[in-house]
Amino acid sequence: MGAQILTASQANLAIAAEALRRGALVAMPTETVYGLAGVAFNENAVAAIFAAKERPTFDPLICHIPRVASAWLNHLAEQGLVDISQLSDVAQQNVERLAKAFWPGPLTLVLPRQAGVPDLVTSGLPTVGVRCPRHEVAQQLLLEVGLPLAAPSANRFGRISPTAAAHVDAELGDRIPYILDGGDCEIGIESTVLLVEPSSRLVLLRPGAITAEQIERVTGCKPVTASGKAETSTPLPAPGMLASHYAPRKPLHLFARRVAALDDAERAAWRSTTAGRRIGILLMAGITDIANLPHTVAIPLSATGDVAEAARRLFARLRELDERDDVDEIWAELHPDAHGLAHAINDRLTKASHPQP
Ligand code: TXA
Ligand code: MG
Repeated sequence: MGAQILTASQANLAIAAEALRRGALVAMPTETVYGLAGVAFNENAVAAIFAAKERPTFDPLICHIPRVASAWLNHLAEQGLVDISQLSDVAQQNVERLAKAFWPGPLTLVLPRQAGVPDLVTSGLPTVGVRCPRHEVAQQLLLEVGLPLAAPSANRFGRISPTAAAHVDAELGDRIPYILDGGDCEIGIESTVLLVEPSSRLVLLRPGAITAEQIERVTGCKPVTASGKAETSTPLPAPGMLASHYAPRKPLHLFARRVAALDDAERAAWRSTTAGRRIGILLMAGITDIANLPHTVAIPLSATGDVAEAARRLFARLRELDERDDVDEIWAELHPDAHGLAHAINDRLTKASHPQP
């Protein structure tokens, strides 16, 4: 028996909310990717999330909360999630500013947790990840349930994140009762994850649609990146930073440069490297003559090189190439811009190109 895919009518939202309150799991749309939701304070539901995803329990979950008009810091405390007393005045001010500027939206804040948050949610860390998503269906569901929802991306661990209800069905349809259909995700790449340390330092744990520059503009603090390990005091790096993630089943390789910029010798070398295999190519912009090669299909993520469009389509097109019978191996260009959403696209592609452990 497979999952029921529900349109987001009032009646269906009530069914989904009731299922969640009973401890069942529901896949919900967000503006970034689809999430696999369960009530964060229900340990059985949280355990079921890890089981359905086959996710190791050292990888903590993000808790989703409904929007408020103001006073976000109090809201985080009242939801039973964040212990704001552990934050310095500056850190508290930064949280309030970040929430005001970017919530509801694609930013996850990692903050000191309250004792009542189940250890399974936080993987035993002293912090909890919190996000207020801006997808209207997620908001309505959160309001209807009235409790924070833990929700990782609704894919099997290490695989391609789902940006449509059908993707969730392909990943987890045999394991969960309901998928709420909210259409294609508007952003297409998971939220930016930012650790706010009690002292006030900001550490960017995962790049996303909210950029380091935007965060600096709002707080006056330049986030450090977690890759310079010595610079961070997080007990564990965010497991989104594991080398292999977001991966297709077929081998994925990255071009060293833009395909359009490869010279004749480089093209010839690429052709001999890939000889005998049928290749699917993800391009960041336009289409190049490489698409005319035999045994090659090329998919531009954006005809015009629009970075938001490329992000929105990235996981769906990767999934499409992974599923096509006429493709043995996938090659992708990195985005030529190294900032913002382009940086996030390149982060996901680089991780997806690492072989599975
Ligand atoms: O856009 C998103 O964030 C989506 C939607 C559904 O909200 N969710 C998502 O969840 O991408 P997930 O579990 O696939 O990725 C969450 C990331 C993981 O890399 C996790 O390690 C990190 O956030 N994270 C969560 N809590 C953390 C914590 N307390 N400390 C450090 N990293 C944390
Ligand atoms: Mg994920």
